Amino acid sequence: MRQKIVAGNWKMNTTISEGIELANNIIAKLGEIPQDVHLVLCSPFTHLFPLSKIVGDIKCPGCRSKISIGAQNCANKDNGAYTGEVSAKMIATLHEAVGTIAGAPEDAEGVKVEYVIIGHSERRGYYGETNAILLEKTKLALSSGLKVIYCVGEELSQREAGKHFDIVGEEIKSVLYELTPEQMKNIVVAYEPIWAIGTGKTATSDQAQEIHAFIRKTIEEKFGALAQDITILYGGSCKPSNAKELFSQPDIDGGLIGGAALKGEDFIAIAQSY
Ligand code: 13P
Repeated sequence: MRQKIVAGNWKMNTTISEGIELANNIIAKLGEIPQDVHLVLCSPFTHLFPLSKIVGDIKCPGCRSKISIGAQNCANKDNGAYTGEVSAKMIATLHEAVGTIAGAPEDAEGVKVEYVIIGHSERRGYYGETNAILLEKTKLALSSGLKVIYCVGEELSQREAGKHFDIVGEEIKSVLYELTPEQMKNIVVAYEPIWAIGTGKTATSDQAQEIHAFIRKTIEEKFGALAQDITILYGGSCKPSNAKELFSQPDIDGGLIGGAALKGEDFIAIAQSY
C-alpha cells in the first residue's frame, strides 16, 4: 500500500549510545507528527538489537505503529563462510531474542526489523554492488520477511548527458522486473540522485517529480495498476527547509534522509512537512 514514509539512513554514524539517544529523542516526539506519516530508522547493524527493544517498549499503541526499524544492507548469500557478512535472516529474526536477555521482564518484546535498504549508491559505488548482486539481496531479503527500500539514481555526468532516465530505468528493470507482483508489494523505491547526496544540492521539486513519475510509469509497464500502490521516496540533501515542497509533488511519497536524520529535531521537522 502506498504510504507516506520518512526514513532515516544513519549510514556509518553514531555509537550505539548515541544511536539510542537519537532514537529516544525521535520517539519522544512521535505524538507531534501526522498520524499517516510512518518513520523508519535505518541504523548500523550493531544498533538494531537495542533499537528493537526500545521501539518494542513504546507504550502508547498509536505511537508504536508510527515507527519501524531498518538495516542498511544484507548479504547476497543465505549463510555460510562469508566473513563479515550479515544475512537477511539474521536481521529478520533478531527481535526474537530480545525477551531472552538476562534480567529482561517476562513480557519484554522486541519489534521485528521491518526494512532493509538495498542498492544505495554508496554500496553500488564503493563496494561494487551490481544490479545482479542487488537482485540476489532483494530476493533473500523478501523471502526472509523484510521489506526492501530499493535505491536508484544517476551521477551528475549521466544527468548532464541526458542519460538519467536510461540509468534509472535499467536499475528498476534489472532488479524489480524479476520480482512477482506479490513481492513488489513489499518494495519501497528510493530515488537518490548521486549528485545530491551529502552535497547540499537538492533536485528541484520539478526534477524530482519528473523522475518519480517516470519510475512509477516504468513499474506500471510491468506490474500495471500495482504501480499506484508503490511508495517512492526522494533522497539527497532533503532537509526541513525543502521537504514540504518536495513532498507536495504527486509522485513523491516521502524521503530517505541522510545527514538531517542524525538530528532528532530535523528529522521530526521533515516528518512534520506533510
Ligand atoms: P543526505 O540526506 O545526507 O544527502 O543523504 C541522502 C542519502 O544518501 C540517504 O540514503
